[in-house]
Amino acid sequence: MKDGLEGVIACETKISRIELVDGKGILEYRGYDIRDLARKSSYEEVAYLLLYGELPKRYELQDFKIELAERRELPPQIIGLLTHLPPYTHPMVVLRTSTSYLGSLDKKIDVKTREENLNKAKNLIAKFPTIIAYYHRIRTGKNVIPPTLELGHAANFLYMLSGEEPSRTAERALDMDLILHAEHELNASTFAARIAASTLADMYACIVAATGTLMGPLHGGAAQEVMKMLREVASPRRAEEYVKKKIEKGERIMGFGHRVYRGIIDPRAELLKRLAKKLSMEGVPRWFEISEAIAKAAYRYKRLLPNVDFYSASVYANLGIPDDLFINIFAMGRIAGWTAHVIEQYENNRLIRPRAKYVGDKDKKYKPLTER
Ligand code: ACO
Repeated sequence: MKDGLEGVIACETKISRIELVDGKGILEYRGYDIRDLARKSSYEEVAYLLLYGELPKRYELQDFKIELAERRELPPQIIGLLTHLPPYTHPMVVLRTSTSYLGSLDKKIDVKTREENLNKAKNLIAKFPTIIAYYHRIRTGKNVIPPTLELGHAANFLYMLSGEEPSRTAERALDMDLILHAEHELNASTFAARIAASTLADMYACIVAATGTLMGPLHGGAAQEVMKMLREVASPRRAEEYVKKKIEKGERIMGFGHRVYRGIIDPRAELLKRLAKKLSMEGVPRWFEISEAIAKAAYRYKRLLPNVDFYSASVYANLGIPDDLFINIFAMGRIAGWTAHVIEQYENNRLIRPRAKYVGDKDKKYKPLTER
């Protein structure tokens, strides 16, 4: 057995498919190619697809969008929590804590009918952006901007964050980014959510497990680390030296490498690269130029290819999103996939309980404290 459960099939799923074909990565949500969804769909439509298993008809999508929009506002207790948390708390800790608090306010927390599971999922999808935007406004001493029913999921988030309606390009860019982050089979955070679900823990507990797992720099935390690297490198001319030094020291370059897409490019990174390039032409070109120089050097020195987190950093920077909200944006997209997986686990459940191979000492004789 390889460490880290590499290559192990831990469950069956109908939610997404990753396949490596002829040196290319295929990623499908419910059978639909991610490239088509990214270009032609919206985050709301993708969330519907992940939760219900089929693309919505026109009226179903309309109803779903209204339903999500009407669920955006937060209970006063959560707003109270956001005002009481210290301004130095990482926004992912805030999201995790707020998710748990939302659970404590839900009188039907333990009800697991399909209808109630979908109800909880829609609530979390709708409220995540508001929690993130409200906390950011509060910690920076600004008034919160209540959600508006007039804007879609992505545009409303950018509006709540800055107080200004985003341009069509910015709205489309975030929408596409959320689609690309919405789901990715049995990644670490989704697995954590499914393990919690397999014990029949409530939906909020499963999502708390997922948000906690996403935070680590080897998973969703990488995008924030990528931005740190872009700032440190500061100029495309310094990229080569930076990468060389890191590789020589045996250190990781954030935003590169992937457990599943080994030696091939993450299909989401390809799409995000195009998006990052487009945004850089209208925003600050420097972030994309530095990213390109790092990508070239990382390939030259260690054949490393970018993953989903690499180009997300320059996309978010050009959307004016603060660095420490990057993981939250990932969670804002992934919440659709997490909740879909929790529901799938509940609906065909068996406790997930693997074994460990024991490699420690055996048969030791207990010595009383006085003899040690
Ligand atoms: N920088 C430098 N070298 C790397 C990197 C990297 N980012 N990623 C992999 N490698 C190298 C390893 O050093 C190793 O080289 P070696 O064979 O010479 O020792 C080889 O590639 C294989 O690496 P593993 O550690 O076996 O890869 P694993 O599948 O365990 O790790 C992971 C995957 C954690 C994503 C890794 O590539 C990494 O640390 N990347 C940086 C963090 C990151 O970007 N995480 C986001 C992943 S995508 C996501 O979660 C949304």
